[in-house]
Amino acid sequence: MEFSKVQETADFIRQRLQTAPKIGLILGSGLGVLADELQDSAVIPYQKIPHFPQSTVAGHKGQLVSGHLEGQPVLAMQGRFHYYEGYSMKQVTFPVRVMKELGIEILIVTNAAGGINEQFSPGDLMLIEDHINMMGNNPLIGSNHDEEGPRFPDMSEAYDRKLIQHARQCAERLGINVQQGVYVGNSGPSYETAAEIRMLNRLGGDAVGMSTVPEVIVANHTGLKVLGISCISNMAAGILDQPLSHDEVIETTEKVREDFLRFVREIVKTMAVM
Ligand code: HPA
Repeated sequence: MEFSKVQETADFIRQRLQTAPKIGLILGSGLGVLADELQDSAVIPYQKIPHFPQSTVAGHKGQLVSGHLEGQPVLAMQGRFHYYEGYSMKQVTFPVRVMKELGIEILIVTNAAGGINEQFSPGDLMLIEDHINMMGNNPLIGSNHDEEGPRFPDMSEAYDRKLIQHARQCAERLGINVQQGVYVGNSGPSYETAAEIRMLNRLGGDAVGMSTVPEVIVANHTGLKVLGISCISNMAAGILDQPLSHDEVIETTEKVREDFLRFVREIVKTMAVM
């Protein structure tokens, strides 16, 4: 993806915004409702945005929503692009580059994930402390554009420790119990087998999903600070004696919606944006 496309898309979006956003939000399965709560909002469907791919999954709306959340200017993706939909890694992460170009400094990524850690329960929120890329691909493969970031970006603090600390304090203030752990990114779209989950558990994974990792790699490449929140929508395969379904994922995220919304509001409200 050429950098000029990123700039063209950013210019197109900038013309439609009242204020320059400082915080970017990527809202995962069942979590898009947050974008409906923005004040003075402007909505841009992905189909209207030059160079933007289209979203195809049920539960994902497919639009950018800008506005204010707790007084802070934010830009939210209501629905993201997944690798399993057939998009290239460059397409999946294109919006993150655009966010950077728009002047965003902090990216909050959210997702629904299966719980690998047996201490977790469906409905828990988990702060992502680190990730394991099991997608078998990387969005930075190909020629590097030095104006975007370094050839070999450091990933030793992919999820900003201060932001994690900030989020933990917010959870405490609100009396919300949050877990913390390692997110494993698989390509999907099939859910994991029970044997794969046992393997991921031994490798240090606490939750598993089919997104987030590509966006976080690119966010680190471009110098955005990242906060990641998983909604544990189900226990991963083989942990409970029951099959997995996308309906269960959506049902659980609907149940934790209120806590999720309160949590992200509090995080944004008290976030120090430079
Ligand atoms: N596995 C992979 N992706 C997921 C899961 C899961 O169990 N739950 C929600 N997204």
